Amino acid sequence: MEQLIDQIQAHLAEVEAFQSNDPTEIENFRIKFLGKKGILTGLFASFKEVPNDQKKAFGQQLNALKIAATNKLEESKKSSGTKSSNPASTIDFSRPGQPIDVGSLHPISILRNRVIDIFSQLGFSLSAGPEIEDDWHNFEALNIPSHHPARAMHDTFYFDSNHLLRTHTSSVQIHAMEKSTAPLRVLAPGRVYRCDSDPTHSPMFHQIEGLCVDKEINFRNLKWVLNDFIHKFFDSNNIKTRFSPSYFPFTEPSAEVDIYWGLETEVDYRITKGTGWLEIMGCGMVDPNVLKNCGIDPEEYSGFAFGMGIERIAMLLYQVGDIRLFFENDMRFLEQFKSTL
Ligand code: DAH
Repeated sequence: MEQLIDQIQAHLAEVEAFQSNDPTEIENFRIKFLGKKGILTGLFASFKEVPNDQKKAFGQQLNALKIAATNKLEESKKSSGTKSSNPASTIDFSRPGQPIDVGSLHPISILRNRVIDIFSQLGFSLSAGPEIEDDWHNFEALNIPSHHPARAMHDTFYFDSNHLLRTHTSSVQIHAMEKSTAPLRVLAPGRVYRCDSDPTHSPMFHQIEGLCVDKEINFRNLKWVLNDFIHKFFDSNNIKTRFSPSYFPFTEPSAEVDIYWGLETEVDYRITKGTGWLEIMGCGMVDPNVLKNCGIDPEEYSGFAFGMGIERIAMLLYQVGDIRLFFENDMRFLEQFKSTL
């Protein structure tokens, strides 16, 4: 027994004397004293050989050695900068992966990006204009003079008699033609504003405007471009389209573009008003007056334009009955579009 106590004292002296900043030496120290086959394990194993009346004293000595070795190890690790526990030994690499939270794009952004992708393949580049517009760009230059009945349809938010929140992205056509010379192909996605609010109208919503001006551009070009877009957007070459006569002050002739949605379900009946057809955008040949207003000679150039509402298409595509859901930022709604990316 005395021999064992002497051994403990000798180890204690060694522990106390130990000093090192070298991670390998520190690790060796750990193995020597605290390792599975180390000195302390050995001493604890000899506990059973100690006569009963001496067990208490022996135990105390042994514990003192263990505490001293553990403290010395922590101290040395701290001062050498090594972490107090070796991460490699605590990570279980065989555990299955655990997902982290992944954000997602807003459904309106998803669709806007899809439209941009398709038109950029046809050489259209992005263009932007201000959301606070003047009367000229939003109305006058687009062939909508001050007493034109079309103004009443726009439910405009006015700041003063000359400044307003743009009611459509068609105003960007004018900026684009003023800024650069023909030929040009531009796509203008953006926010627009109208004083209107109910389950299918929101005071702020999004439109995408397109404009193509070049020599000898004709209505057949317009039809080809929009059909190509629709086939790519709805990912089907079989989708039927229909161009029917319409009226917009800035295009002549004007048309609305319908797609055949079908009449298979009750919902189809409701959203197509029993016809099977859905209007998805307006379009037409740019009125010569509009070209002239922007300094482009209509004798030399012609163009087509089109405009669509993103929320409208999103509501159809995702069967969303209330436009306000797009702006309330309810995660339960938004998370449903993660897989659409
Ligand atoms: N600006 C129209 C609207 O807000 C949409 C539109 C229709 C744009 C026909 C066009 C077009 O460029 O040719 O309802």
